[in-house]
Amino acid sequence: MTLITVLVVTVVWLLWSVSSYFRYRNRLPLPPGNFGFPFIGQTIEHLSAMSTADGIRQWMQKKVDKHGPIFKYRFMGYPMVILDQPEGNKFIFQNEGTTNHTFFPSFIYTLSGPHALLTQAGDSHKFTRRYLNRFFDHASMSRYIPGVNRIAMRQLTSHWQGKEQLVGLDMTLSYTFSVICNLAVSLEEGPLMEKVRQEFHTWTKGLYSVPIYLPGTQYYKALKARTYILKVLDGFLEQRRKEIAEDRVAEASQADMLTGMLTVPDGEGNLPSDAFIKDNLYILLFTGFDSSGSTLAMTMFYIAKHPHVYKAIVEEHKLIRDEKRRSGKDLNTVTMEDISSMKYTWNVLQETLRFHAPLEGGQRKTVTDLEYKGYYIPKGWLLNWNNQQSHFNPKYFKDPLKFDPSRWETRPPPFTYLAFGGGPHTCLGYEFAKMSMLVFMHHLVQNYSWSLVDPSYDGPFIRDPFSRTPDRVLVTLKQLVVS
Ligand code: HEM
Repeated sequence: MTLITVLVVTVVWLLWSVSSYFRYRNRLPLPPGNFGFPFIGQTIEHLSAMSTADGIRQWMQKKVDKHGPIFKYRFMGYPMVILDQPEGNKFIFQNEGTTNHTFFPSFIYTLSGPHALLTQAGDSHKFTRRYLNRFFDHASMSRYIPGVNRIAMRQLTSHWQGKEQLVGLDMTLSYTFSVICNLAVSLEEGPLMEKVRQEFHTWTKGLYSVPIYLPGTQYYKALKARTYILKVLDGFLEQRRKEIAEDRVAEASQADMLTGMLTVPDGEGNLPSDAFIKDNLYILLFTGFDSSGSTLAMTMFYIAKHPHVYKAIVEEHKLIRDEKRRSGKDLNTVTMEDISSMKYTWNVLQETLRFHAPLEGGQRKTVTDLEYKGYYIPKGWLLNWNNQQSHFNPKYFKDPLKFDPSRWETRPPPFTYLAFGGGPHTCLGYEFAKMSMLVFMHHLVQNYSWSLVDPSYDGPFIRDPFSRTPDRVLVTLKQLVVS
């Protein structure tokens, strides 16, 4: 039976390859590279390269050395083309919506739900993005910042004070999850929040797994986790709707995203459906914490490694505090004006993101036959955008393996720095991530100094799926006396 299956698949594959050859022989050549075995192709080597921070970069470099900067391979059954960078990223992002659109394998749609912004394409993406944008504009940031400030101070007191050692990554994830839960659904810290965070952890592993739906597999567990989280969201929706109807929404919940989605109509005058609200709250809760939490922890790592960076950051925040004191402002609150003064700290965060972009790239699907730099790329193939080939290219980032925040005093060329993606799907939470990470850094460096328990560690960094040290950035802590 198995032998017959193998024979049938091989014959179909051979017929397909021969017919492709005759279809394309009068046209431009296909990109170099090979597809490997039917369906599987290079999926396994690609997935295993994703388990360390520089794995994908090294894997791509090996292919570039062999085939040149544009090459093809097969990933999860799909023909995929890597383009030369940064021109390739520009080509993909500038043509998104016309010659290519966003694409995920079907199991990702199952895991995310049919309405999630991330997986939408074309008009439905534009519609959803326009609707959600109101929760991420500049006015919203000014509304959110007092709550973010309160959570940062509370976390740094309740979880950090009196500790001699702590696991940096666990603490920063606790902060970022607390922030997004609060702003999305007004969920405060406690056992329910912790349980939901654990379920998201399980769900995220499913995104990077082979989608086999059998008890015990990552994918199976991820779907169970999604069912649990949706049930929690159902409860929030029901409760809030009741509160709105009885005009007794708590003051703290009046400005959260859930109240917004239940009361603000879309561009056509309709309130969004429950399924739309749940899928999008779900995706905002997910995108809203892991990436910024892991970035904060890796920033703590680099600051501890580079005393001159630590000194410069401390100096920047001391100046901000001194200025507040001079002008009689509250020393414990951070304003949007303070955020724009944190230029050096933002450069440090960007340098961390250059090394450890939470998302190294993604794929788009061609919706028409394409020509790119003398190659023919058929309709239905996938194009890979990525930041790994440009973030470490000395042409755009001099001495790329050096952690050097001062490089951010000048802007890198377009389409070379893509930690937040590009094109129509560029990160919706950019301003939010920036604001919430800077608020945390402001309070952190004024209240604590820290050193790494393993100061000599310098990689390899694990990705599961975001960068971390094996000890999850274990630090020794010293509380400072704030003047
Ligand atoms: C360090 C922090 C963050 C980084 C590096 C980051 C990075 C990214 C990247 C690379 C994409 C593009 C994905 C693609 O093109 O396929 C993206 C999309 C997105 N991000 Fe972020 N993100 C961060 C934080 C956040 C936060 C805090 C939120 C929300 C609260 C958020 C919400 C989103 C959403 C909703 C999308 C989908 C946008 C769309 O499809 O139109 N992100 N992010």
